[in-house]
Amino acid sequence: MPKNFWRNLKKPIVCLAPMDGYTDTAFRRICKKVNPNIIVFTEFTSADGIFHNAKKVKEKLNFDPSEQPIIAQIFGKDEKTFLAATKVCEEMGFAGIDLNMGCPAKKVVKSEHGIALRKKPDQAFRLVETVAQNTKLPVSVKTRLGWNDAGDLIDFGKGVENAGADLIIIHGRTYTVPYNCEANFEPIYELKRNIKIPVIGNGGIASIQDGLDKLDNLDGFMIGRASFGNPWIFSPVIKNLTFAQKLPIIKDHINYLVESKGQNRAMFEIRKHLVAYVKSFPGASEFRASLVRVENPQQAFEILEKIAKI
Ligand SMILES: Cc1cc2nc3c(=O)[nH]c(=O)nc-3n(C[C@H](O)[C@H](O)[C@H](O)COP(=O)(O)O)c2cc1C
Repeated sequence: MPKNFWRNLKKPIVCLAPMDGYTDTAFRRICKKVNPNIIVFTEFTSADGIFHNAKKVKEKLNFDPSEQPIIAQIFGKDEKTFLAATKVCEEMGFAGIDLNMGCPAKKVVKSEHGIALRKKPDQAFRLVETVAQNTKLPVSVKTRLGWNDAGDLIDFGKGVENAGADLIIIHGRTYTVPYNCEANFEPIYELKRNIKIPVIGNGGIASIQDGLDKLDNLDGFMIGRASFGNPWIFSPVIKNLTFAQKLPIIKDHINYLVESKGQNRAMFEIRKHLVAYVKSFPGASEFRASLVRVENPQQAFEILEKIAKI
């Protein structure tokens, strides 16, 4: 996609947030089935791993053509490895590259990746510049309000913009604020008033309507955890589906996961999703114990079909 991809997209832009361990190709495919107009991102993928040609890391970037336009999200701190990752993302046919500057995980921060780059803004801007100058693809940055507060958000946004980023995505929490605290969108609106590139807001959005209510002057919003067990959240029209009506998409999820990761890994990884699918369904709790033990798709389908008949 050209550099003006984000600018030219129909507004508001609605995205599935990148979530490691959840938003793999199978989950992204079903979200795109529900609403083909959303933009999806890969789980964060190590630029160092790509640079060292680690098979398992590169596998994380696999996607299905139906996910296009799909954005690759990479993390790291080193210009050399970001450049190698940029080339790989281009060759694989990604529509854009997103640089993760928000991950708060201990291991990531200790390696000076993710949110740690907010402590070294010059290095962050150098990384953006290096990637932006060496690719035809649009480059974005996903970060948080800041470390302890949003005091440097506007400076950071301007720096990222000057370095050549085409979009900035802000999760409305700081590094120090836990996930169960409400996200604060005010500093994101203020950032938007101070920069020219598109801005996407994220954090605690519970539905498309909630995203629209919080949109204000922003160009779009990104939904994360509210999509667990609920890819239908992305539909502006579908409401109050019965479990039987949900079944075809859940079955697709299982099939796509087996297709992409093989049966053993798929049946292990699907368990957390199955639990999420039945979470809010009255009467399904007794099936939960068996759902977390499924060993093949057929077993899962049988249990799900029983639940659909409740
Ligand atoms: C399990 C999990 C994994 C995540 N992995 C990533 C990731 O790989 N890259 C990223 O930029 N953010 C990641 N995030 C943050 C989300 O993209 C998003 O910013 C955050 O969940 C807030 O949005 P929400 O309140 O709608 O969930 C992750 C969040 C969760 C809960």
